[in-house]
Amino acid sequence: MTTLVPGTKVVIKEKMMINIGVLASGRGTNLQAIIEAIEDGKIEGEIKIVMSDHPDACALKRAQQYHIATQYIHFKEFKNREDYDKEIVKTLKEKKIELVVLAGYMRILSPYFIRTYKNKIMNIHPALLPSFPGLHAHKQTVEYGVKVSGCTVHFVDEGIDSGPMILQKAVEVSDEDTEESLAEKILQEEHQIYPRAIQLFCEGRLVIKGRRVFIK
Ligand code: GRF
Repeated sequence: MTTLVPGTKVVIKEKMMINIGVLASGRGTNLQAIIEAIEDGKIEGEIKIVMSDHPDACALKRAQQYHIATQYIHFKEFKNREDYDKEIVKTLKEKKIELVVLAGYMRILSPYFIRTYKNKIMNIHPALLPSFPGLHAHKQTVEYGVKVSGCTVHFVDEGIDSGPMILQKAVEVSDEDTEESLAEKILQEEHQIYPRAIQLFCEGRLVIKGRRVFIK
């Protein structure tokens, strides 16, 4: 028990909340897992905006259900990738975003975007990187015949799924597995490690040294 001496100033330490911006193109189950982790108080952060390149992305609907601001930006209105990304970055800056989370975002970011948010953009990939980067990771995995796969949360650099890795989780690939069943198994793990990686970032516990990410 703390005995307060009269006249002592009580300082209640407020948690520093990190402003998060999410980019998503599709169904948004990872977004949902992140929102739920925030609602449960596991992440010291707040999603300030969810942006999409698809007007009817399910991810936008999920965000709206939680009264999170959303924005659709039509790619064809811009002359190239960099101009498109400049528009996104403009919004992210207006919202004072400190961490950009790619959650099933199907566009490659321009070097401009990546340099603007260096070491502040995360992605999740449904394979154990550096194996099977790029599109159709589950198909590549099943066809190659590996016995173990999984998912990787990594920082985004200018290559394809090549940035420093934050967390990985392995799953077994069984003889019965198809592309679809493997995707489902991996997705369950994605929903665990993505919120966890974001949590670590928000707590200031990720230290990048070269390619390695250390957890303090
Ligand atoms: C996930 O498989 C993720 O690994 C990949 O895109 C998919 C997004 O799924 N980057 P969802 O939209 O979060 O459901």
